[in-house]
Amino acid sequence: MTQPNAAGTAKDAADQNFDYMFKLLIIGNSSVGKTSFLFRYADDSFTSAFVSTVGIDFKVKTVFRQDKRVKLQIWDTAGQERYRTITTAYYRGAMGFILMYDITNEESFNAVQDWCTQIKMYSWDNAQVVLVGNKCDLEQDRAVTQERGQRLADQLGLEFFETSAKENTNVKAVFERLVDIILEKMSDAPEDANDSNPNTNPYSSAAGKYTKDTTKLRATDPQPQGNNCQC
Ligand code: GTP
Ligand code: MG
Repeated sequence: MTQPNAAGTAKDAADQNFDYMFKLLIIGNSSVGKTSFLFRYADDSFTSAFVSTVGIDFKVKTVFRQDKRVKLQIWDTAGQERYRTITTAYYRGAMGFILMYDITNEESFNAVQDWCTQIKMYSWDNAQVVLVGNKCDLEQDRAVTQERGQRLADQLGLEFFETSAKENTNVKAVFERLVDIILEKMSDAPEDANDSNPNTNPYSSAAGKYTKDTTKLRATDPQPQGNNCQC
């Protein structure tokens, strides 16, 4: 099991003082900036070197939203196709997804629909998704207009942000909005309203997602296969 080892993150990981624990996943094509986005958020760091993620890894960060301390377990997935079987195994139990493309890369934008299909196929119905167009600092290389991004988000029923992990634009806003959406969803649909099966409903109390003993992964959770994410 990979342990977060950055000083701040390790402190967060050990912190038992929280109201809820949310598992979030960052997905999207290789090189769109998923790892950079997570490092900017969790460690406030950025590197222009590209070290493609092998498998999956995670970081922990605690946020305070709507009078609640929410501990986030944020999974950074490899975008490369060859890791798809590993990464989709982690979709189950995720309460939120950051679906990322690169505004300078048309192909990554065209893949958004496929990523949505993967979410539908492997995650819970109630999982919340935010669409993110990253690298908005590279205006001169832009291939996807903000309007196209917004239109696609509207079609898919998702909220939309353009971000820059490099310049720290909207990174915190994306996580905070996703947490807010999940909290709103929870208050709309109280836990285990119609479905108490933790395998199909993350809001089920039996899923243990909101209890304080969820800092440790359950034995049944898949284990990270790679650790190339510089954590
Ligand atoms: P995989 O792990 O292969 O799935 O890729 P990834 O999505 O994690 O991409 P990563 O974060 O490793 O970033 C890929 C490259 O894009 C790196 O060289 C980053 O420095 C660069 N990059 C990431 N975010 C930004 C950004 O907001 N602006 C700019 N200009 N470059 C970025
Ligand atoms: Mg990566």
